[in-house]
Amino acid sequence: MIGEKTKTAMNEQIKHELESFYIYLSMVAYFHERNLDGMAHWMRCQAHEEMIHAMKFYDHIIDRGATVTLLDLKQLKTKWQTPLEAWQDAYEHEKFVTAKINNLLKISREENDYASEPLLAWFVNEQIEEEKNTDKVVQELTMVGSSREGLLMLDRELGARVFPAGSPLDPLAYNSVA
Ligand code: FEO
Repeated sequence: MIGEKTKTAMNEQIKHELESFYIYLSMVAYFHERNLDGMAHWMRCQAHEEMIHAMKFYDHIIDRGATVTLLDLKQLKTKWQTPLEAWQDAYEHEKFVTAKINNLLKISREENDYASEPLLAWFVNEQIEEEKNTDKVVQELTMVGSSREGLLMLDRELGARVFPAGSPLDPLAYNSVA
């Protein structure tokens, strides 16, 4: 049986992952408006991954015989002044999610909920990558400064990201890719 506090925190984590999906989807629209289709593509891939993250918790709660409760999403920022500001927000958002995952692991350990440990260990590792990826773009955009050529090169590079395969609602598909 899943720990009561662990279950509550996992339901909250579904909300945070869906909020991640939502803010990155807003960034997709923002980047398309700025004709930065490569960045928009990268964020589309990221939004897809966030839906998968939400579903990993969703399925874990169900697999443990507990109840999924979908909570209200918080209204997050929808407009940015510059691409750098959007990427800085993405990095800050990932740091926020990392703190939530770490706290979730702490709660599950306090409840001796060992069955949640492999899933949470996966997320601890995933957050290293999520922070690294967004911080890298912040650093690159800072280096590029006001160079339009540099911005376009970076946009092309980000447009090469491979889309995660499979439906985020299909555990057989997403467990092998994200
Ligand atoms: Fe699901 Fe980007 O953290």
